[in-house]
Amino acid sequence: MSTPTRPETVLITGASSGIGRATALELAGRGAQLVLVARGRESLEDAATEARAAGAGAVIVCPADVKDEEAVRVAVDAAVQRFGRLDAVVHAAQVMAYGTIEEVPREIFETVVETAVHGTATVARVVLPLFRKQGAGHLLVVNSLLGSVATPLMGSYVAAKWGQLGLVRTLQMEVRDAPGVEVSAVQPGGVDTPIYFQAASWTGSTGRPPPPVYSPQRVARIVLSTLDRPRRMVQAGLFNPVITAGFRLLPGVYDFLVGPLLQRMAVANDEVPPTEGNVFESQQSGNATEGRWRSI
Ligand SMILES: NC(=O)c1ccc[n+]([C@@H]2O[C@H](COP(=O)([O-])OP(=O)(O)OC[C@H]3O[C@@H](n4cnc5c(N)ncnc54)[C@H](OP(=O)(O)O)[C@@H]3O)[C@@H](O)[C@H]2O)c1
Repeated sequence: MSTPTRPETVLITGASSGIGRATALELAGRGAQLVLVARGRESLEDAATEARAAGAGAVIVCPADVKDEEAVRVAVDAAVQRFGRLDAVVHAAQVMAYGTIEEVPREIFETVVETAVHGTATVARVVLPLFRKQGAGHLLVVNSLLGSVATPLMGSYVAAKWGQLGLVRTLQMEVRDAPGVEVSAVQPGGVDTPIYFQAASWTGSTGRPPPPVYSPQRVARIVLSTLDRPRRMVQAGLFNPVITAGFRLLPGVYDFLVGPLLQRMAVANDEVPPTEGNVFESQQSGNATEGRWRSI
């Protein structure tokens, strides 16, 4: 989407919180027309109000669960009906769960994986035919460092993000016959968003973003630069390349260090009873742009 001559139109999933909401606000700042998608309407409306104040050309709110193909189709149709076309989709909707694979209930595990894997496939199935018809369009998926490495206590999220990245790489090959159609992934490391206290947990503690903790605004700026200059995969975490190299090249050292480091740097060490968090249903009061951790 380089130097658009008309306002760009972007649909964002997960637009009511964290990276999705920050991306909506960054895009609003350059006058974009926005379609905001998440499950809960009220927090989407709050995000829409902020986006209008930040300069968005127009904003529409379309509550939809990304696991529901019909609902995603309604949102995309609404975008086309209102704005005539859709230039890009930023897909950031996700839920998370903490606990060993033995501890986390099956339905929680499966919903975390389904949100990432089936959600991404659903979004792709709906938007790529439109992009092909337009002869242009960009699907940008917000993946994770945990799409390339593993960690204990986050098995469902690791499976979700590895599966999602596999899909993204497949999609990138499948759109090679469609000039003008792009599929990108951004892989953040730790980001200060509400996802950590919205997550399901069976560990007795809340999770926290591992350092270096980026602000959602910083990741949003990386998302915008990727929209402007599509690339297969873009890192949004200073240490991501080192951590990924360690995971691949020194698995014994990685496995020895990852558990203690996770306990020290990625667990809040508070006390919480087992919780389903927002895995099955939106917890709108917890949705916001920022979390509660220090970020850079
Ligand atoms: N925060 C981090 O440290 C971090 C690190 C690496 C990668 N990421 C990735 O960044 C992306 C955004 O995460 P975030 O940290 O910004 O999370 P967040 O603040 O919890 O926001 C998640 C958003 O997704 C929506 N959502 C959840 N399930 C949905 C569903 N089934 N259908 C539609 N919308 C749904 C939520 O709203 P409702 O609940 O109302 O639906 C919310 O708007 C995710 O892909 C995440 O994996 C985050």
